[in-house]
Amino acid sequence: MTALTSGQIGVLARAVSRAPSVHNSQPWQLLVRGTEVDLLERRDVELRRHDPFGRDRLLSCGAAVTNLELAVRALGRDCHVEYGDDVAATVTIGRPHATPAREFALYKAIPRRRSYRHPFYPSPVPPAVRAAVAVAGEATGVHVVTPGHLDRLAELLGFATRVLREDRGYQRELEVWTAHTHGWSAIGDGVPEDALTRDALPVAGLVREETPVPDDVVLADRLAAEHLLVVCTDGDTRADRLAAGAALQRAWLTATAKALAGSVLTQPLHLTGFRARLVSELALPGCPQAILRFGYPAVPAAPSPRLPLGELFPPPGGPR
Ligand SMILES: Cc1cc2nc3c(=O)[nH]c(=O)nc-3n(C[C@H](O)[C@H](O)[C@H](O)COP(=O)(O)O)c2cc1C
Repeated sequence: MTALTSGQIGVLARAVSRAPSVHNSQPWQLLVRGTEVDLLERRDVELRRHDPFGRDRLLSCGAAVTNLELAVRALGRDCHVEYGDDVAATVTIGRPHATPAREFALYKAIPRRRSYRHPFYPSPVPPAVRAAVAVAGEATGVHVVTPGHLDRLAELLGFATRVLREDRGYQRELEVWTAHTHGWSAIGDGVPEDALTRDALPVAGLVREETPVPDDVVLADRLAAEHLLVVCTDGDTRADRLAAGAALQRAWLTATAKALAGSVLTQPLHLTGFRARLVSELALPGCPQAILRFGYPAVPAAPSPRLPLGELFPPPGGPR
């Protein structure tokens, strides 16, 4: 099988780099070995307060694996993805194969996808389009469901907002990941202030000290006015989390390809006991990994920065 040219490696690197990641930390690297490409999890990227067990880091790597797979297919090659224990995944590149139109549409959506943390245009998304977004995320062991009981979801999210607002250590860490994204100290990671809002949930994706706490009834009404999906997995292993991230990204790219915008919420899921309550109160079919909100965009949203592409490749001494 022909190895990749440097131009083709560039195509893969650009696609991976544009994947969404927790706090835009981009916790991945690429190791190209002939026709095998490893996506490495950068375990040194730590968010001790937000993501103490690295589960969002794995979801982020899963999202990057989807972009990597789509880029390989866009190059007209077949491929096989295998999640691993040491590496997040190995993508084995196969024979020349015409790119399926649907996969190419998702590949083209990669640079247009961004976190849209604003209210949506008040026009409902047709049921067939909503269903297509959910179906795109379905995979073995992964279920993408529309949550019911929005009154209970609102109560839980309202509770999480109050806890996270008051958590000083948590807020300090979040500040570190938002404060350096401007001016001379901008280095290509972190969440830019412009990408956040001063509104309440569900629009405010990341609760900060000044985030308003909406009344539960108001929040339930706002949730009902948006389209929500919960990505759930049968288990909660490393492979389940990677698969959840990959599924989330497929659903998100499908929404983007259909002129929709969206953002992801995992912040409240990290609170002790929150996940279990979500499962029982919303009768979810597995372990909730992420919530995707989507709708038609009302305003433009700028792309967030990325680290230089060179940082994607481990130095000669080995992965950092
Ligand atoms: C696993 C994961 C968890 C995330 N959690 C949140 C979240 O709780 N709130 C939020 O506003 N954005 C969340 N995001 C979105 C990231 O902040 C966003 O992808 C990153 O800042 C890059 O920006 P972009 O999506 O516009 O490319 C999450 C993304 C991933 C992949």
